[in-house]
Amino acid sequence: MQRAHRSALALGLFVWGTAIAFTACGGASPTSPSEVPAATQPTTGTGGGTTSTVSVAYVNDIKPILDSDCVSCHGPRIHENNVDLSTYAGVLRVAQAGSANSLIVRETRSNGPMYVNLTGNRAAKSELIRAWVVDNRLAESR
Ligand code: HEC
Repeated sequence: MQRAHRSALALGLFVWGTAIAFTACGGASPTSPSEVPAATQPTTGTGGGTTSTVSVAYVNDIKPILDSDCVSCHGPRIHENNVDLSTYAGVLRVAQAGSANSLIVRETRSNGPMYVNLTGNRAAKSELIRAWVVDNRLAESR
């Protein structure tokens, strides 16, 4: 009698323990390991100083470049290397405010692999992208 009771209890504990182990395992694995926290967004120019005026902004200057030269391969339908440059949120995933090391800057500078995809005045567009990320800290509009 007592023995049967004990093993039932042991089985219960085993099942319970397994469930916990599974839960812990699922909880421990990060949902998106390659995801870097979103770049700190320059919502307002709280930095003060003389550079509060945004000269290069996403909506005004950058989106037109990306739409004409990049979205054919990095858009909602085809997104090479999982890069979607058709939205501001998508671009933020490959850009960090203030960093010349941002993927989009490295890819579009004159020795970068995506430079050739820039049409027209390549050098000017490349510099615009750099200035937007590094100097204007990914400003959305001006
Ligand atoms: C003809 C198609 C095509 C066009 C146009 C294109 N790309 Fe790409 N892009 C690719 C492919 C393919 C890859 C992945 C292979 C690689 O890394 O070289 C890539 C990769 C990238 C990456 C990510 C690389 C990584 O390591 O994850 C970025 C950022 C990027 N492109 C930006 C741009 C920008 C900005 C433009 C517009 C100036 C552009 N691309 C235009 C095809 C394209």
